[in-house]
Amino acid sequence: NNPPWPAYRGYHEYSFAHATMQSRLPTILGKAIDDATRTLNEESLEERVVDLSQCIDRMEDLMKDLSGNAKLRPIVDDGEADVVTWNKEITKFFRGKDFMNAPWLFAEAYKYRRLHECFSASKYWKDYDVFYRQKNDTFSRSSDAVFELAMRFANPHPPPKDIDDPKRYEAERLMFLELTQVCLWGNSTDLSLLINMTEEQIKALQATGEDQLAATEQNILGNDMERVWEVVKANRDKKKDRRIDFVLDNAGFELYCDFIYADFLIQSGLATEVRFHGKRYPWFVSDVTKKDWDWLINNMCYGNLFPHASSAEMQSLRMLAKRWKQYEKGGQWIYEQHPFWCTGYTYWDLHSEAPDLFLHLSQSDLVIFKGDLNHRKLTYDCAAPASTPFEEAIGPMANSAGAPKVVSLRTIKSDVVVGLGLNGDAVAKELDEKEPGWKISGKYAVVLLSEGRPG
Ligand code: F6P
Ligand code: MG
Repeated sequence: NNPPWPAYRGYHEYSFAHATMQSRLPTILGKAIDDATRTLNEESLEERVVDLSQCIDRMEDLMKDLSGNAKLRPIVDDGEADVVTWNKEITKFFRGKDFMNAPWLFAEAYKYRRLHECFSASKYWKDYDVFYRQKNDTFSRSSDAVFELAMRFANPHPPPKDIDDPKRYEAERLMFLELTQVCLWGNSTDLSLLINMTEEQIKALQATGEDQLAATEQNILGNDMERVWEVVKANRDKKKDRRIDFVLDNAGFELYCDFIYADFLIQSGLATEVRFHGKRYPWFVSDVTKKDWDWLINNMCYGNLFPHASSAEMQSLRMLAKRWKQYEKGGQWIYEQHPFWCTGYTYWDLHSEAPDLFLHLSQSDLVIFKGDLNHRKLTYDCAAPASTPFEEAIGPMANSAGAPKVVSLRTIKSDVVVGLGLNGDAVAKELDEKEPGWKISGKYAVVLLSEGRPG
């Protein structure tokens, strides 16, 4: 049940796998240790101090394993719902492998699971998030883009009652395409890559104006946006209940863009229910947990993160947050956190390793996978040619009975690139020559659709 192409591994020096395993992950872990140490220095109760210092000791052990390229040991039974799945995968498929010669995707995920173990084994710090400060901080530094969107979208969109009027219909189509791009590019600012970015650089990546979006559309190398529109529109015409799922990626600004998009989907009637899938614990630095979800909406509603904002701007933020809270209360927006999302499995194994989740997703009218990591998992993170059709690259997620319609909204930040069409290999080759680094810069993107297969 594997694709015919080899998965990237840390020792592949030509790939981003190498730089990640060799230097990015130790840097990220070092910053996590700094964060926990800062908290330790602020804590006064002895029992809690001792407990946290033991967490830091465990993080130091993990650092030794990572830098010394140790063999991957089983996960300690910390009561988490995913321990069995993890240890099955380690012993069945990767016994004796180390950080560098295990598949990159697995070894990287394993590092985040081990980091979680450092805290889950404690008494007082089980839910501590070493990335929480960074996540919040980046949202507060995204004010320009945050308010540009809030001022435009706080007032409700007009109801879609004159849907047959061709002008109104065209306006709605354009709005859908624009907001799909807002949701897509919201992914370019994840924290694992932006460790050293200045505020100016963040602003440049988050530009959301219409002209900007027209320009960036050219950087979407495989672009099925129009087909996605046809899918959601057809659902609205045909179905009474219309469910769209988001498999979320990053907290803060990206989640805010996801909310803006999901808000439009509800208001336009393109969806009657949106289910959001987040992580149970801190994952790949900036991925959304329930705490991040609550923090964002509550901070928008009651917080004071933007001291330089005007009162109209703050009001627009609150209007959005209040409406979003209503969606939550009314059951139109639902947060879920299945344990499978924090495992090392790719989505080629989703139907067999998490059949309940597969069945659940198969009941959705469209599943939107956000971001780079989800794309790597969909495509098995392997060296498939860029001309490989998306359906082929995602294997069972496209061709198993009951596979839902799937769209991947992903800014390209790592090696695997598929779905660029018949001429795709030539496009990739030209970029390799002209713009080395194009696969990790987040400048390019793909929006790729798979039509699924009825159950
Ligand atoms: O460490 C590499 C990586 O997995 C890349 O996929 C990407 O650089 C980052 O981590 C996560 O990106 P995203 O938040 O878009 O999934
Ligand atoms: Mg992420």
